[in-house]
Amino acid sequence: MTKVLIACDHGGVDLKKQLAGDLASWEYEVVDLGVNDHSSVNYPDYALKLGRGVVAGEGELGVLVCGTGIGMSIAVNKVPGVRGALVSDEYSARMARQHNNANVVCLGGRVLGPDTARAILKAFLDAEFEGDRHQRRLDLISAAESRG
Ligand code: RB5
Repeated sequence: MTKVLIACDHGGVDLKKQLAGDLASWEYEVVDLGVNDHSSVNYPDYALKLGRGVVAGEGELGVLVCGTGIGMSIAVNKVPGVRGALVSDEYSARMARQHNNANVVCLGGRVLGPDTARAILKAFLDAEFEGDRHQRRLDLISAAESRG
């Protein structure tokens, strides 16, 4: 069973709850890193926790939701080894896996409707990395990451 980490801030909590349920109904093992209410929190805390978890192998993939998805994507990409993609359409969700081997998807809870978000997440999960020339490009990113 593929394990997926999921987290959000107060701007993404409603969508995160829905997507956690969707993931479970698609038979993914879901690890929910919070939050679960609308109290104001700082999105980097959740992005960094989830990103470190994905890199440590606590889950194969991660899903982050904040108001726009932007803050989560900026923060999670500070974790070496994370390839976080901010996505708002199905095509980009597929490409994020096929070409970029994204291991975290970031979504906007105040941007996406529930059905669109569900379809985006499904497209992301169902796509597979194509390797080859795309790996060469990712290697350039990893090298830059190692250099700092
Ligand atoms: C919180 O109000 C909001 O700033 C946050 O959820 C997110 O959209 C940041 O990028």
